[in-house]
Amino acid sequence: MPEIGIGLLGVGWMGSLHSASYRRVRDHYPTCQGTPRLVIAADAVEDRARHAAQELGYEDWTTDWRDVVAHPDVDAVSITAPNFLHCEMAVAASEAGKHIWVEKPLGRFPAETVSTADAVTATGVRTVVGLNYRHVPAVQYAHQLIASGQIGHVNHFRSQFLAGYASNPQAGLSWRFSRELAGYGILYDLMSHGVDMAQYLLGPIARVTARTATLIPRRPQMDAGTGTHFTVAAGELGDVENEDWVAGLVEFESGLVGTNESSRYAVGPEARYVFEANGTEGAVSWNFERMNELEVCMPLPSGDRGYTTVYMSPGHPEFAHFQPGAGIPMGYSDLKVTEAFLFLESIVDGVQRSPGVQEMADAARVLDAMARSSASLAWEEVGAVSARPEATATAAGNIRTANGAR
Ligand SMILES: NC(=O)c1ccc[n+]([C@@H]2O[C@H](COP(=O)([O-])OP(=O)(O)OC[C@H]3O[C@@H](n4cnc5c(N)ncnc54)[C@H](O)[C@@H]3O)[C@@H](O)[C@H]2O)c1
Repeated sequence: MPEIGIGLLGVGWMGSLHSASYRRVRDHYPTCQGTPRLVIAADAVEDRARHAAQELGYEDWTTDWRDVVAHPDVDAVSITAPNFLHCEMAVAASEAGKHIWVEKPLGRFPAETVSTADAVTATGVRTVVGLNYRHVPAVQYAHQLIASGQIGHVNHFRSQFLAGYASNPQAGLSWRFSRELAGYGILYDLMSHGVDMAQYLLGPIARVTARTATLIPRRPQMDAGTGTHFTVAAGELGDVENEDWVAGLVEFESGLVGTNESSRYAVGPEARYVFEANGTEGAVSWNFERMNELEVCMPLPSGDRGYTTVYMSPGHPEFAHFQPGAGIPMGYSDLKVTEAFLFLESIVDGVQRSPGVQEMADAARVLDAMARSSASLAWEEVGAVSARPEATATAAGNIRTANGAR
């Protein structure tokens, strides 16, 4: 059973979760071909780096992430730092021969994402990107029902990922609101998941038309390395530099036209991630708030029509690794254990799994077209990404205030 030395770059929310997933992976996937060894963790904030060694199981810590990349016992790294570091970290680590589990969105803007994906791919290392919702058993089951034609020809698709973490004007000005540190806002934070899911379920998106808005233009500042994007702060106000909301029509290569919306400002839902695909014979509908259920509509012998709730059970993909019986819920953190498993397996057997950096680049091309469309107010083709996204989309999008004035 090969031991795989792990280095961690960033000890925040995702850094803790990646670490827990490495610790849990053999409990849930006992046949996993690799055994993770938590070697060294880095965070720019010393207390967080120390915490990784004291509480998360790492043998050592550092405040300089380059120590991790250079460490001879590190075979693979988790990149869980803010977006502005993804490119530099991923390129340096892959050039040092380290395999990469990197959080979405792999950079700040599509040009950065695509060039990073290509540079990393050229080194030949294995990659996993944290587009974790693909690993939900009910999502995989929906994918099977669509791909096998059981709901017929899909003629409607709609998706929303609505969060409320930025709906409080006092929510602190974390790195997520900075163009320099995060790049795009909701496009990269949540729409990256939405676009990846749409393409996973229904194939490539060819063109889009989209609108974006920044609904709260100034927020209280908070110190870097403290709190999370859920933290309420009381500092001096600073500028929000990227968009809070995006919605668009997406036209797939198949000709199907669907809708996709994401927000960090939606009062009410806190993490409502939903999609519905309606076909000529049936339909599927999923809601992350009820992650372990898939609503399935299929023809009934009686002729009755309507959705039936299918509870995930050990017969569905991945579920048996976590729970022994139907109706016992899996949770969000479990999705990361599956990611850890896929990462370790791919390192040992050399087979690249999905989603890796190229699937993230595919999503980034669509997100780039959404940003271009938000500026041009026209349909935009998915293809080559803008060299300078700043030139094609304003920081605030095409709607600047909560009352919708342009
Ligand atoms: N897949 C998902 O569902 C999901 C969910 C949340 C976040 N994310 C992604 O994960 C990434 C991290 O998000 P988070 O919520 O964990 O952020 P976070 O702010 O909680 O953690 C980021 C950590 O990186 C550290 N850091 C900053 N500069 C550093 C440097 N130079 N060297 C080392 N460490 C440094 C910070 O001090 C902090 O501890 C983001 O790219 C985000 O998009 C993905």
